[in-house]
Amino acid sequence: MSDAPPPVTPPDRILMGPGPSDISPRVLSAMAAPTVGHLDPYFLRIMDETQTMLRQVFRTDNALTMSVSGTGSAGMEACVVNLVEPGDRVVVCVNGVFGGRMSDVATRCGAEVTTIERPFGEVFTPEEIEDVVKRVSPKAVGIVHAETSTGALQPLEDVSRIVHDAGALLLTDCVTSLGGCPVEIDDWQIDAAYSGTQKCLSCPPGLAPVTFSPRAVAAIEQRTHKVASWYLDITMVRNYWSDQSRAYHHTAPINMNYGLHEALRIVLEEGLEARHARHRQNHLALRAGLEAMGVEFAVAAAHRLPMLNAVRIPERVDDKAVRSQLLTDYGIEIGGGLGPLAGKTWRIGLMGEASTRRNVILFLTALEACLKSQGHISPAGAGVAAANEAYPTI
Ligand SMILES: Cc1ncc(COP(=O)(O)O)c(C=O)c1O
Repeated sequence: MSDAPPPVTPPDRILMGPGPSDISPRVLSAMAAPTVGHLDPYFLRIMDETQTMLRQVFRTDNALTMSVSGTGSAGMEACVVNLVEPGDRVVVCVNGVFGGRMSDVATRCGAEVTTIERPFGEVFTPEEIEDVVKRVSPKAVGIVHAETSTGALQPLEDVSRIVHDAGALLLTDCVTSLGGCPVEIDDWQIDAAYSGTQKCLSCPPGLAPVTFSPRAVAAIEQRTHKVASWYLDITMVRNYWSDQSRAYHHTAPINMNYGLHEALRIVLEEGLEARHARHRQNHLALRAGLEAMGVEFAVAAAHRLPMLNAVRIPERVDDKAVRSQLLTDYGIEIGGGLGPLAGKTWRIGLMGEASTRRNVILFLTALEACLKSQGHISPAGAGVAAANEAYPTI
């Protein structure tokens, strides 16, 4: 008798947290396709097609667009470590956990980091950013587009103008926004951006799409110090992704790339505009339902993420008891608050495959029952009725 543990049999879940999100069976079956070598002509074709599709999804012509092997944090490190040299002045905007992480990464690169801060859940005004870039005159400004820890969406167009007027590069975290709301790399003149596969692209975690503008590439080529990470040195990794050289750098996670390829095909088949509209529609319906149940949003209406709804936990309701009941009784995962919002907010994701009317209605039904067990009573069915009303009649 073998004493090996039983095979992996994950429970049925509906992933409505801050990521990972539900994965399309098409993506899972692409990942189960036979592994080929990382220099096999078939895999090189998959890489080329993935780059083309990433450019479409990032809305860019940037030649240096690819997936980094690693999760969203690897994408963050790849952007920061390549753009920033020891002694460079860098401004990082911190209004949540991930801005804080970016500032930590930049500090580890030996940059002189200036942070500007906003309370969790708020966004930066262009004026605040203008003040700091005038004062610091940085090489780069880092900012998070969709702060998953707080549920706030940072407008970028004015920020980009200000950063470029000051001669700096704009580095943007698009981990949660890509595939769920507009991300216009070229129109907004973003110089470096990274994302992750497990949010609105609905692929398992494991790869980080990145893109660098020609200005960012020029800055990388003018470096005087070697990039402080061997694995993430984009000047070496790009030789593997370039159809000119294909030099071995590291063994690409082949099957993860199959998954991303299929996930991007699904995004493009749906169309970016239709996909963004779907995320927005389901967000509005969820919002109508939650408000009818007396659950308030934690972010001002103008800055709410359509794919991640941060709400205040109603008074006298036990955070963990509700999340655990949602999981055990309904198989629904939602996220708790992070950092100073721990125990105060829930983060309800409607990302990618999980952004459906079915999930909105199911979640509101389940939440009503869980809140009732906690003594938070709302009129029976009010949430579901309000959500249904929010959908256009066919
Ligand atoms: C906005 C944002 N940035 C960065 C990350 C880090 O990504 P990962 O956890 O995939 O390393 C996340 C993950 O949730 C995120 O939401």
